[in-house]
Amino acid sequence: MSQFDTMHTTENNFAKENPNYLKSMFGATDIMPLWIADMDFEIAKPIQEALQKLVTRNMYAYEFNTGDVFNAISDWNFKRHQLELNPKSFVQVSGVLTGIGILIRELSKKGDSIMVQTPVYHQFFKVIESAGRKVVSNKLKVIDGRYQMDFEDVERKLKTLNIKAIILCNPHNPIGRVWSIEELKKLVNLANEYNVTIISDEIHSDIVYSKSQFNSIASIGNSNNHIAVIGSPAKTFGMQSISNGYLYIPNDNFKQLVKRSVESLYLDHGNILSANATIAAYKEGEEWLNDLLTYLEKTMNWIDNFLQEELPEVILYKPEGTYQVWLDFSKLKLSDRALKHLVVNQAKLALTPGDWFEGGHTQFMRMNIASPLSTIKQAFQQLKKAIDTGIDASFNEVTAADNCCSC
Ligand SMILES: Cc1ncc(COP(=O)(O)O)c(C=O)c1O
Repeated sequence: MSQFDTMHTTENNFAKENPNYLKSMFGATDIMPLWIADMDFEIAKPIQEALQKLVTRNMYAYEFNTGDVFNAISDWNFKRHQLELNPKSFVQVSGVLTGIGILIRELSKKGDSIMVQTPVYHQFFKVIESAGRKVVSNKLKVIDGRYQMDFEDVERKLKTLNIKAIILCNPHNPIGRVWSIEELKKLVNLANEYNVTIISDEIHSDIVYSKSQFNSIASIGNSNNHIAVIGSPAKTFGMQSISNGYLYIPNDNFKQLVKRSVESLYLDHGNILSANATIAAYKEGEEWLNDLLTYLEKTMNWIDNFLQEELPEVILYKPEGTYQVWLDFSKLKLSDRALKHLVVNQAKLALTPGDWFEGGHTQFMRMNIASPLSTIKQAFQQLKKAIDTGIDASFNEVTAADNCCSC
């Protein structure tokens, strides 16, 4: 019995299972929520204890611990990823997307373009477009069943379009690639040549499986003048609603500019719950994380075997990192509406629809697997049963509700 086998059913208001959210996005509430990238697991004990200490103290006067947070982040990255980060090059922000929003504003003006590598985490589109910038898509290519970057397309677009930054997602959500040193070097060389900055979202950097190795963009030798890294302990330690983000900017001039911008909005103060939880996570959470990774990898292998043996029509892009799996349903040859109907109304699953990550990916869905293995097994059994049964005889393509799986 693992600590991750327990399903916690205490009353709560988490977005993942909130009936109003489920209803508005999937058109149903009696469905297993495996969509948003939150874990169903309790956090590591040392984080709980750090938070309890603050709650027990019962006083919340102004208190800043930013220096200790940056040291903890640096030490963690050195221990975990053999990455030397200068604690003086950090800037505190209130979350990863906030960090991206600020960087975009520093690096570009309204009407300029920002490149993303699609399919990709859908909130990037919102952050770019709501800042009045244009999204340029560099589509990832599938070669031999594995997603790869299309560097020719990157270069063509950097040459011809008014692109000021590239948002890199490493490990990549939703397709689960952990980018290799060679891939990162090529991207850095292009960024240097065309004078654009790579904004590297590394929020998933610690969720990497045994056959892969995470490399930060900051580990690439000649990258210093054209990168900004954004990280957070949120995904690694299941602290989504109590964590901040941090920017790491090795070029000091650019760092000062960004710092001033962050300070002008008073976004750099953090809060003590988040700060002390972060310190506890990075100083004392490693054993818990190792156990989590072992558990997730076991789950992943179970899914891989199950699909190969029981449901070969569904193709799994086995992730190298992240606790999301990217599933291709196109072999079922169902219309987009029929597929959604089958998954939501027959299999009773709330998976993130592929078209959130780029229009056109309507035959893909992303499943979050950070739940007890028994839950994941149940989900795949429900999926198999629905697929074996086939689409409901009563399903009507024309009258089918289109309110399901909307962004
Ligand atoms: C790639 C990526 N970046 C950023 C976020 C959100 O980060 P934050 O809540 O700190 O803004 C997520 C959440 O799923 C994510 O997957």
